[in-house]
Amino acid sequence: MFNQPSLGFPPGPQRQDSDAPIRQTDTDAAVARLSAAQKQYLNDPFVKYLVPRAQFQQPRPPLINIGTYVRTKGIDDLVEEWLSRAAKTGKQCQIVSLGAGSDTRFWRIATGPHQDVIKSYIEVDFHEITTKKAMSIKKSRQLLEILGNPDEIKLANGGTALHAPKYHLLAADLRSDPVDTLQELLTQPSNEHAILSAECPTLLLFECVLAYMTVEASSRLLQWFVNYFSANGNEEVAKANSPLGCIVYEMFGLNDSFGKVMLNNLRARNVSLPGAEPLTTIGSLISRFLDSGFQTARALTLKDIRRSYVESEELARISRLEFLDETEELDLVLAHYAISWGILIPSPADQDSWSDWRLREKDHPEEEHPF
Ligand SMILES: C[S@@+](CC[C@H](N)C(=O)[O-])C[C@H]1O[C@@H](n2cnc3c(N)ncnc32)[C@H](O)[C@@H]1O
Repeated sequence: MFNQPSLGFPPGPQRQDSDAPIRQTDTDAAVARLSAAQKQYLNDPFVKYLVPRAQFQQPRPPLINIGTYVRTKGIDDLVEEWLSRAAKTGKQCQIVSLGAGSDTRFWRIATGPHQDVIKSYIEVDFHEITTKKAMSIKKSRQLLEILGNPDEIKLANGGTALHAPKYHLLAADLRSDPVDTLQELLTQPSNEHAILSAECPTLLLFECVLAYMTVEASSRLLQWFVNYFSANGNEEVAKANSPLGCIVYEMFGLNDSFGKVMLNNLRARNVSLPGAEPLTTIGSLISRFLDSGFQTARALTLKDIRRSYVESEELARISRLEFLDETEELDLVLAHYAISWGILIPSPADQDSWSDWRLREKDHPEEEHPF
């Protein structure tokens, strides 16, 4: 629901490559974010620079705006908690956003209270998406200013990549073996430093991405990062390494009638969700982390997050923005999306500072919800 390709797409099978509908989901996500920002659900002054013809985009319905709000708020809170912990331990950290699309989170963090905590922010997507994003960044004075010294902002790899002092935009197909793709991009660049250091606390973000690839491909990806941070079992090296956190947002539990309708709608637009179909329960979201080598994991539906993990003042504010009469439908939709997270702490010395990284429940003085 929150990232389905728009109606009327694709224009014609012979002119499409098979991944075009997957890439199109980026526009859906970006337009939903733009709508939620325009309707004041989210404070995102940057999204308009990354959505083509932003001023002509139609607002999304209230249900989509609320869903986009809850998804963004849940992920933002987890990211914020990660940055605060890094700040407390006196370490700068890295964020790697896989399938980042037109996301604006880097610019929001880089203008926020924890901007100094970021050592590097890395975004990866298909080259068609990174090329488009690199061009939008280059065209926007507002986005460029935040990236820093213009002499240090460089396009690379034929315009598919962009490097700035703290920001790196890289092209890769995440379904390929990470040993052949990410390893080269992140750990063995031609200049003197690898972009990704296992010695910095590092947070992976997969916001509505893993659903589009097989479980085998996503497990291989997660395991590659786990191996890099756990130093392939070398205890001495692992002790020098920092925690690896991971946040995944996606649909799940699609084996009921709601899920079947969603899958059929997507199939009609040439999108399949091989990564979401096997995830039938919240437990399966948690198992994926544990099976990949993360030490602890949790998962919450957007329905849970809206009920118990958003401040009551925020819920009251959101309820005044637009009229929503379909609360049952909202709950049904939100129950099919989840934010899950896991953490690996290679060094026992980091346990106390990091093991309690999680979303925190908010106090709700009133039982009843304003929606
Ligand atoms: C629904 S969009 C989400 C974009 C962004 N994470 C957000 O939440 O706004 C999915 C993104 O994942 C990217 N993606 C999906 N499969 C991918 C793959 N195999 N390799 C690289 N990127 C991929 C798409 O191109 C698209 O940008």
